[in-house]
Order: sequence, then C-alpha cells, then structure tokens
Amino acid sequence: MANREPAPDTVTQVDPSVPLVEARDVSRSFGAVRALSGVSLDFRRGEIHGLVGANGAGKSTLLNIIGGVITPSSGSILVDGEERSIERPADADALGFSFIHQELALIPDFSAIDNMTLGVKEVGRLGFVDRREASRRAKDVADLLGMGFSLRKPVRQLSPAERGLVAIGRALVRDVRFIAMDEPTAVLSDVECQRLFRIVRDLAATGVTVAYVSHRLGEIEDLSDRITVFKDGRVTGRFERGGYTRDDLVRGITGSTVGLGPRAEISRVDRDAPIVFSASHLSDGDRVRDVSFDVRAGEIVGIAGVVGAGRTETFGAIFGERKLTSGEMTLDGKPYRAANVRDAVRQGVALVPEERRSQALIMTDSVRSNMTMGAWGSTVANRFSPFVSDRKANGVTDRMVKALSIKARDPQVAVGTLSGGNQQKVVFGRWLSRGARVMLLDEPTRGVDIGARQQIWQTMEDFAAAGNAVVVVSSELEELSICHRVVVMVEGRTIGELQGPGVTEEQMLSEIYNDHVKEEIV
Ligand SMILES: Nc1ncnc2c1ncn2[C@@H]1O[C@H](COP(=O)(O)OP(=O)(O)OP(=O)(O)O)[C@@H](O)[C@H]1O
Ligand SMILES: [Mg+2]
Repeated sequence: MANREPAPDTVTQVDPSVPLVEARDVSRSFGAVRALSGVSLDFRRGEIHGLVGANGAGKSTLLNIIGGVITPSSGSILVDGEERSIERPADADALGFSFIHQELALIPDFSAIDNMTLGVKEVGRLGFVDRREASRRAKDVADLLGMGFSLRKPVRQLSPAERGLVAIGRALVRDVRFIAMDEPTAVLSDVECQRLFRIVRDLAATGVTVAYVSHRLGEIEDLSDRITVFKDGRVTGRFERGGYTRDDLVRGITGSTVGLGPRAEISRVDRDAPIVFSASHLSDGDRVRDVSFDVRAGEIVGIAGVVGAGRTETFGAIFGERKLTSGEMTLDGKPYRAANVRDAVRQGVALVPEERRSQALIMTDSVRSNMTMGAWGSTVANRFSPFVSDRKANGVTDRMVKALSIKARDPQVAVGTLSGGNQQKVVFGRWLSRGARVMLLDEPTRGVDIGARQQIWQTMEDFAAAGNAVVVVSSELEELSICHRVVVMVEGRTIGELQGPGVTEEQMLSEIYNDHVKEEIV
C-alpha cells in the first residue's frame, strides 16, 4: 500500500490545527437549480467526516467542486488555510486529493490493474514512471480490499461490485492527503464493506482526511468523527461523535423523523397461496450452480449472499439473459423458460437491474422519455398508432415522480442533470409502471435516501399484495429482514431458507458466512 507519511513540508510549515480543506460560503447553481447555497464546512487532518443528506441535497456537488470537476458559482475553497482555485481534476490531483466518484469513471477496456495505476506519478530512479512499482502497489491494495478476481481482465467484464472495488482501489493506490468517497459501499456487500471500513480507519489513523458520503446511516455513525448534514443545498446539522442520536440525523436530512426506515410490518401471506414462480436446480454451468426456490402469490422473497454468490446471475438466467444448462422453472403452474429478455417480459417477468444508472439511462434524454422508454403498451396513443401519446406518457411520469419523490425541476429536464439517487429512481419507476407477474429486483434501494427507501418498499409491497410475486436481492441485510422469507445463496447454490418477516441480521450472517468467515468480518 502507498506510503502514508505526510510530505515533510506539510508537517513543518503548516499549523496542524488549520483544516486541510475548507469550503467557505460555497454556492453553485445549475440554471434555476440551486445545488448549494452558502455552504461552509471544513475537513480536519486525519478525520473521517461523514456527509449525509437526501438525494439531490448537494453532497456530490460539494465533492465535485473540491475535486475540480465543477467550479463554484461563488465562495472559495481553502487548502492548508490558503485560498486555491481548483479548476480541473488535475489541480486536485496535484494537491494530493483523490476521489471515488459516485459514477465510477473507469475505462472499460483497460484491465483492473491499468485502471488502478492510471496516472500514478511513481517516478523510478531513471526518471521514468515505474510501472512495476505502481503495479506492485496496486496488487497490495487489491489484497487489502480482498479483490479475489483477475486484475488483468478488462473491467467491462467485471461485475458492478468488482468494478466498485477497482474504483476504490484506484483512489487508494495514490499517495494522498485527502480522499473523498461518494457512496463507496453502494455496490459492496457486507464482507467487502467491513474490509473497506478497516481501510478507511487505517487511512485516518495515518493522518489522511476522509470525506465519506453514504445513505447507510449505520456506517456513517460507526465511522465518522464528525458529520455534516445537507438538505436542499444547505447545511442543516453538524455533529461530533457521541453528540447526537439517529433521530438528530434523520431530522436534519428530512426535516422530520416520522415514518422512516424499512417498515417492520408487512401484510401476511397465506401459507396455501398458490405458487406463482418456482425454480428448481437451476444451473448455467458457470456462476449459477444449483438454485431452487419458489414464491407464492403476495410474497416478497429475499435472496441474501455475498457479492459473487451468483444472485445477479440467477436473475439473469430467469430473465433470459443467461443460458441455463439444466433446471426447471414454472410460472403460474406452467413450465417457464425465457429464450431472451423480450420473451421473459412477454411472459410477465420484469427485472430491475443492479446497475441502473449507466446501463439503463440515456443521460441526455428527458426524465419523461427515460421513464417511458420501451413502455409501449401503456403509453401509445391507441393500439393502431405507433406514436407515444404525450398525455399518457406525462400521466405515467407524473405518477411515478410522485410515488417515488423524484427530485426534478420538471419531467422535461435531461436525466443526467438529476442527482445520482434520483436517476436510480427513474429506472425503478420505468419498471414499476409497466406491471408484471413476477418482479425481480436487484438492489432496489441502492444509492437511495431513507425517505425514498420507504416508498420503494411500499411500492413493492403493493405490487405483491395484488397477488404477484416479488424476489429481491439486497446486500443490506437490515432491509431483507422485511421479507416474508429469505433464501440464502453461497457460491451459486441456494443453501437454506429463513422464515420471516423479522429474520435477523445475525441469522442471515451465520447462514451466509459459516463460522470461519464470520470471524474475519467481525
Ligand atoms: N450537471 C447538472 N446540471 C443540472 N443540475 C444538476 C447538475 N448536477 C447536479 N445538479 C442538481 O443539483 C442538485 C444537487 O445534486 P447532487 O448530485 O449534489 O446531490 P446529492 O446530494 O449528491 O444526491 P444523491 O444522494 O442522490 O447522490 C440536484 O437538484 C441536481 O439535480
Ligand atoms: Mg450524489
């Protein structure tokens, strides 16, 4: 791993009580949208500073300003007590700042190792960039992060979680004083998260400043020395470790504390309700090895497992994206197989994919057209017309914008101008508005704030309660505790089932990790 000794001049010349980075009265507007209004905060040396706030509150905008991705409309950024203009990412790089951006920004055709070492200024004795040294570091970092996959493969062949680790690794390979992590755990599962937390704490202990954004309040509370809360582009709370409660955070984020968090109550499912979907001994000869489970009408079944357990691939096989080599499925009692995605959709199966933003959105198109993309049935003017009816498309969009509280000035703005979490909600809304018999949801609340989580679960519940089947993969075990049942997957196999609702995290963990792996993560 990179040498973490601060450069000598920063020790001798700068008073350590001066914050490393300070934002003073920073504002930034995008047209009529005020993303940040008069925000002031500082980042001290060696602290872990948590940033929280609802989707669209301005967290990424602040980090993008410090990172030179965008410039402030007014206000200033001070580094070591001196005003600095950070006009481009290279300026931030030269200051020793490193970023894990919300959009991973990797080069798809480059290998993991090349992505990680790209631009590293490791100069060897002869004045050349020492690739070998950079690669060695990258491998150390990969070990620390537990990146158990080939670092030579182009990153486009990696799963979203693996790509997330590459982006994190990329930030860690550099010698830095300040590292900003914008939702680094959004794509990780529990084991990877635990490893990352250890690394974050080690970094801070060696004097590196960490700015840490997350919607998972538990990890914010565990990690942060200080927390700044954003709401609508302003700071609504500042807290020090030990000096606040969960309610204080929630109040700062949403303005109230009622009705938040995953619901504890879920409508009961009749034990004799008909089985809507069943899978038995599915295998694709690769990552799906032996998967069996069923879902009754009205049921929400969760699938728990670590990254790489084969959950996303199982969904892919059901949805006609992956070829099965053996196994049987039924839908409403009849044999089911999907030759391709279109075939799956036609038979009433919907999939909300794991990586929604990059795979599913056309960034320069409007919220409305992204929301209604491909939703011909519900939005065409009439069944003889190939044209989308504006009225119907607007109706669907308005309904979903309301149901999911999507923060957009109006439905005609480009979806790329929405905050990360709000973009996620647009894709979610697209699938929800279509209707289906079986809904497969891969990490449905990833990157989504606590208020919107509640709404997403409510829509899932309403869908199930109408007699349909829901299968949900989530790496946040707390969320899976709401499910009627939780199926546990390890290395491509379903190994057990827990009866809910109210399955505890401990129950799931002991199923998933067995005793020896559990030791590693606690
Ligand atoms: N390039 C842009 N053009 C127009 N509006 C933008 C742009 N970037 C951000 N915004 C707007 O600025 C506001 C703040 O967005 P920002 O991405 O900082 O939110 P966030 O707190 O990071 O949210 P999330 O938790 O969803 O990632 C939002 O209303 C967003 O739509
Ligand atoms: Mg953001």
